Amino acid sequence: MANQTVQQTRSAQAMEQAGRRLAGTLPPGAIVALHGMYGAGKTTFARGLARGLGVTSRWVQSPSFVLAHEFRAHRKGIQHFIHLDLWRLRAVHGEDRQTLTHYFRLPNAIVAVEWAEHIPRSLRKYITHIVDIRMVKGKSRKIITKKLPYANGEEQQQSITKQRLLQEGNL
Ligand SMILES: Nc1ncnc2c1ncn2[C@@H]1O[C@H](COP(=O)(O)OP(=O)(O)OP(=O)(O)O)[C@@H](O)[C@H]1O
Ligand SMILES: [Mg+2]
Repeated sequence: MANQTVQQTRSAQAMEQAGRRLAGTLPPGAIVALHGMYGAGKTTFARGLARGLGVTSRWVQSPSFVLAHEFRAHRKGIQHFIHLDLWRLRAVHGEDRQTLTHYFRLPNAIVAVEWAEHIPRSLRKYITHIVDIRMVKGKSRKIITKKLPYANGEEQQQSITKQRLLQEGNL
C-alpha cells in the first residue's frame, strides 16, 4: 500500500470492501484510527476489516455502550480483532485508558478505533494507520487512508514509539 490512498465509494457494500482490502495489508499489531462524522461509515469499514481478517462470528454493531468488542481473527500472526468506539468518552481516564493501552500493546491483534480523535495525546503514538471518511453527497464517501511511517509490525512499532517520545521530548 502506498503511504496515502484516496478512494471514492458509493455504497455501504463498497465501504465494507474497502475495509477488507485494507485488512489484507495490515501487519500484526496495527492500530487503525477511524475518523468521520456520524453515519460516515466507520462501523461499516470496521466490519470490512473484521471480515478481511477472517472474523466469522456474528458482527456486533458499534459498541456505543461498551468501549470494546473483541473478535477472534484468523490470519497469520493475528488472533484478535478489537473494535473500539470512543464516541461516548469525551476524555479517556483511569480504567478506560488502561484498557486502551492494553489493546494497543497486543502484538497479535488488529485494533480499529472509531472516534479516534478521542484517543489521548500520549497514546496516539500507537496509531499505525489513519482512515478518514468524508461524506461527499448522498451515499458518496471519500476515504483517505494513510499509513504512518514505520507502520510495519511490532519491531517498527517500537521504533515509532521511541521516535514519538523523542519528538515529544520525553526521552
Ligand atoms: N458509501 C457509504 N459508505 C458507508 N455507509 C453508507 C454509504 N452509503 C450509505 N451508507 C449507510 O450509512 C450508514 C453508515 O453507518 P455507520 O454505522 O457505518 O457509520 P458510522 O460512521 O460508524 O456512524 P457513527 O458515527 O454513528 O458511529 C449505514 O446505514 C450505511 O448503510
Ligand atoms: Mg459507528
